[in-house]
Amino acid sequence: MHIQGGQVATKADKDTAPARYAVMGNPVAHSKSPAIHKQFAHQFGHNLEYTALWVDTDGFAEAVEQFRAEGGKGFNITVPFKLEAFELADNLSDRARLAGAVNTIRFESDGKIFGDNTDGTGLVHDLTKNLGVHLRGRKILVLGAGGAVRGVLGPLLKQNPAALVIANRTVSKAKDLAKAFAQLGKIEAVGYDDLVGKRFDVVINGTSASLKGEVPPLPVNLFASNAVAYDMMYGDKPTPFLEWAMLHGAETAADGLGMLVEQAAESYLLWRGVRPETKHVIAALRKGG
Ligand code: ATR
Repeated sequence: MHIQGGQVATKADKDTAPARYAVMGNPVAHSKSPAIHKQFAHQFGHNLEYTALWVDTDGFAEAVEQFRAEGGKGFNITVPFKLEAFELADNLSDRARLAGAVNTIRFESDGKIFGDNTDGTGLVHDLTKNLGVHLRGRKILVLGAGGAVRGVLGPLLKQNPAALVIANRTVSKAKDLAKAFAQLGKIEAVGYDDLVGKRFDVVINGTSASLKGEVPPLPVNLFASNAVAYDMMYGDKPTPFLEWAMLHGAETAADGLGMLVEQAAESYLLWRGVRPETKHVIAALRKGG
């Protein structure tokens, strides 16, 4: 394990060592999390250090123990270690158990490892608080059926939408997910062809298609009036899905930068007991800060 990315320390108290946090991933060099947590710590005058730790694909458990031995208090987990983190945790939050993945770990004073998942709550916060999108009673379509989608279904269903539909290229994967979450609310799985003639208020892209510059094979007339298109991915410019959505009738298009900051705020709350202000942090990141 070695450290990439900037070290983050607020000098609130020069006499005591900063509390150590991190994000572990591979790749992780371009992670925005150190910059986000630096701004959070500044808000409260907390003396903490948050680093990006590159971890060998077969070295996750070892890296966790090393970080703990070095005095780490907790850390975030990104690709490809969220499932391993889930396996490693001694105790899990309900939302981590539902997600089947862990993106936040806290080392407990009794030596146990507590695993949480703040991704879905982060998405719901961004939609409802930052973008003012009401989810209760709305028709929501989620595209994709991989780990990213699994992580957000629980918190979305908790908002009591009128319908939650999962569409995926491989329909069997969507059906498995719908079955796993059926007891939490009305949830349906379909293929892209089945979307013809249906309209949704909120369409969330949780596929990795944007990474390849692709858009899932969606029918036109997908968006109801005043519909919102949301891509869990983000970048310097609108994702291919968001470009498609604006051309095909979506009223609002938003990328996943807000979700990234909101999931970080939830992690900060778990570690430090306070939830940072996020709007200015999102705005600063948009400006490249
Ligand atoms: P993650 O953990 O990020 O969710 P994943 O588990 O590999 O990654 O899942 C990727 C998702 O993106 C899947 O739902 C995949 O569809 P399939 O299950 O049918 O493979 C979806 N996906 C990737 N590229 C896509 C494309 N070009 N069009 C539509 N869906 C795509």
